[in-house]
Amino acid sequence: MGITIEVEGLTKRFGETTAVDAVAFAMGEHEFFSLVGPSGCGKTTTLRCVAGLETADEGRIGIKGTVVYASGEGVDVPTHHRAIGMVFQNYAVWPHMSVFQNIAYPLKLTGASRSEQRQRVGRVLEMLGMEDLGDRKPSQLSGGQQQRVALGRALVGEPDVLLLDEPLSNLDAKLREHMRVELKRIQRETGIPILYVTHDQLEALSMSDRIAVMEGGRIHQVAAPHEIYERPATKFVLDFIGSVNYLPCELLDTGSDTIEVRVEGGGLLTLPRPDHVPEGREMLLAVRPEDMTLGRAASGSDLRATVELRSFLGNLCEYRVRHGGLELRVQTEKDELVAEGADVVVSVRRGFLLDRGSAEDPLARVS
Ligand SMILES: Nc1ncnc2c1ncn2[C@@H]1O[C@H](COP(=O)(O)OP(=O)(O)OP(=O)(O)O)[C@@H](O)[C@H]1O
Ligand SMILES: [Mg+2]
Repeated sequence: MGITIEVEGLTKRFGETTAVDAVAFAMGEHEFFSLVGPSGCGKTTTLRCVAGLETADEGRIGIKGTVVYASGEGVDVPTHHRAIGMVFQNYAVWPHMSVFQNIAYPLKLTGASRSEQRQRVGRVLEMLGMEDLGDRKPSQLSGGQQQRVALGRALVGEPDVLLLDEPLSNLDAKLREHMRVELKRIQRETGIPILYVTHDQLEALSMSDRIAVMEGGRIHQVAAPHEIYERPATKFVLDFIGSVNYLPCELLDTGSDTIEVRVEGGGLLTLPRPDHVPEGREMLLAVRPEDMTLGRAASGSDLRATVELRSFLGNLCEYRVRHGGLELRVQTEKDELVAEGADVVVSVRRGFLLDRGSAEDPLARVS
């Protein structure tokens, strides 16, 4: 696998704040790679360092085999000599220029001939499905189309890599969903690698080949979306990606195939033995809403609860159920409707076991 962007030991400080703290990752040749994490975790700063818009304090950045930044070696290639295309959150398309002129602009700056401009802009318009809109002004376009113009302008120079920072955040929910698919399609068709920044976990999960989950300037985990979801490396990743219930519990018995836990409020659960059993007895059992089921009686479970609220979500049903002081969020298939007020037994299909005292330990996977 060829490498597009390679970042090693990247550190950037603003006064007392370490915005990026020893970040390292390597992006594949045709990869859609996302940096995801909460506001202020250092995503934009990382991207700006790659773009050369920010000078890092330490580390090394390579783009397509060329070192563009190396601290201590005096290498710092200016932005316009890095073969990148960029679209940022507040992308601007010039209102007084036509779609064609907007996209042609970077080519004009480099002195490309008119016929070359026509040819290359034509190709980009085709790729974006906007062949017939070249003469329009941005005010005559929908938000999604304007967004595509900004993308076209970043693509027209045929960059080695696209850097996108929350490019969909100006769009309404429906359009954002549509553009997710469009963006991924364009990426697949062109094969152009994309380094994508978002705080939206769903956006990252749905588009990326791999995701780096960041917090406080550091990367917690780099993996494919399903791996991040199914095998989060830390409690932070588990929390940030998807939703999760925490059941405080006590580890009673660790047999060879199963373990038994007593959940706060008195319920008992027999679970498959996790890949490792954490030290200590005071645990948290973390379970995603879709990994629990509600029934009248269930083998391996004596976790009794009452359904307090039921919300029909179309493709599934979500319940709030109470077990003593514990409120759990459960999602089930829509054809197993349980009435509000019903007494049920909750069973747990799979989850993660962690020591209540030290949340930074690797999670034990129960499945
Ligand atoms: N120019 C700057 N001067 C001082 N501090 C900065 C500057 N740019 C960023 N920071 C700080 O660095 C940290 C990381 O900021 P960054 O913009 O990279 O976060 P982010 O992950 O992109 O967040 P968001 O999702 O809100 O865009 C934050 O604490 C931020 O306040
Ligand atoms: Mg940002």
